[in-house]
Amino acid sequence: MSKIGIDAISFYSSHYYLNLDELARARGIEPEKYSKGLGQKRMGVAAPGEDIVTLGANAAKQALAKADATDIDTVLFATESGIDQSKAAGTYLHSLLNLPKNCRVVELKQACYSATAALQMAIGLVLRNPRNKVLVVASDIARYGLNTPGEPTQGCGAVAFIVSTNPRIISIGEYSGLYSEDVMDFWRPNYRDEALVDGKFSAIIYLKSLKESWLNYQAKSGLNYDDHAFYCYHTPLSKLVEKANKKLADINKIKLTADELLAKTKDSLCYSKEIGNSYAAALYISLASLLDNSTHDLTDKRIGLYSYGSGCVAEFFGGTIEPNYKAALDTAHHANFLQNRQSLTYAEYEEFYNFTLPTDGSNFETPAYDTGDFKLVGIANHKRIYQSET
Ligand code: HMG
Repeated sequence: MSKIGIDAISFYSSHYYLNLDELARARGIEPEKYSKGLGQKRMGVAAPGEDIVTLGANAAKQALAKADATDIDTVLFATESGIDQSKAAGTYLHSLLNLPKNCRVVELKQACYSATAALQMAIGLVLRNPRNKVLVVASDIARYGLNTPGEPTQGCGAVAFIVSTNPRIISIGEYSGLYSEDVMDFWRPNYRDEALVDGKFSAIIYLKSLKESWLNYQAKSGLNYDDHAFYCYHTPLSKLVEKANKKLADINKIKLTADELLAKTKDSLCYSKEIGNSYAAALYISLASLLDNSTHDLTDKRIGLYSYGSGCVAEFFGGTIEPNYKAALDTAHHANFLQNRQSLTYAEYEEFYNFTLPTDGSNFETPAYDTGDFKLVGIANHKRIYQSET
């Protein structure tokens, strides 16, 4: 059976970020609480004119630059920051990127887990028709209330990856450990723009689901902690990932020094420390971070991947890195993007945070900010109007 996995991967976040030291000052909190206690440095802040479609289109344009877009017959758009109750966000993206019309486009939701559902569905579709390629886009804006404990764990980001046979980057393994439970750790009722969260409980359920999905994965695959060279976890905050990795080693009775444990996840956390939580995109941005920032040759190395979405659904699975993977990465583009972002003052952050589109469908033109190559230019007759800036 031929290998199936990720053939190209790129991420994007907002051009604007808030330094968490600046947020700490505004909230009268010691900056070390965010930098050391949460393990976060900065968070991406979406600008007016920027939403899951523009973030996703920016990521997908870059991923498609290394592929033949005419082969794409399915677009799966994973998000929990939905902009319409009916129309899939991916249909806008499909049009902005001029993807083939003979294509299916669907939106998927299950909190931060949905990109993994998309990946597994994509694998099934490619298995059925090996000539075709699936574009998976995960795009989210993480919003909690101003001055709430969740505020420093906000962020935004999108990742796009192409699933195909004989992938250039990573082949996905056949075993998945699964776990689902009906819990209220984090949710967002339709009438709210900000998530509601039971923060401490959410961390407990994240770790419990890690254990349960890992045990299920281990029972199916016979693989152990040491069979994976590095780990990528869903990353709401770096500190929780470090705790998760220690827990997994403990479950497996693996004795590692603190530095050896950190080395298993350090490179996967570079991007999330810069952009914050990107919900559905977070696990795959952490994979891009590991691939771009590791100084090791990852060829033939197995990577453990933990996907978690509140509510909750969890999946533990693995993938093996392909030879010559480096040539298919977007490392320089990602570094350049992060370096050229613009820092916001606290007041500018609050202005961006409080920006809302009209909720009565009235015509509206969004103010001009840097939103990459795509922009939500406004609303007309209840319709969102997007524009390609190139
Ligand atoms: P909090 O109230 O800030 O927690 O909420 P805290 O007061 O316990 O402080 C956090 C840590 O900072 C503690 O360390 C403190 O000791 C430390 P810990 O006990 O955890 O090891 N600390 C300091 N360290 C150094 N210097 C200092 C200092 N002061 C304190 N001066 C919480 C934290 C993460 C709960 C909050 O930010 C939150 O609610 N975030 C949103 C929810 C979340 O991210 N949950 C994660 C799991 S659920 C998930 O991943 C799903 C999700 O992505 C959504 C989805 O699936 O769609 C969220």
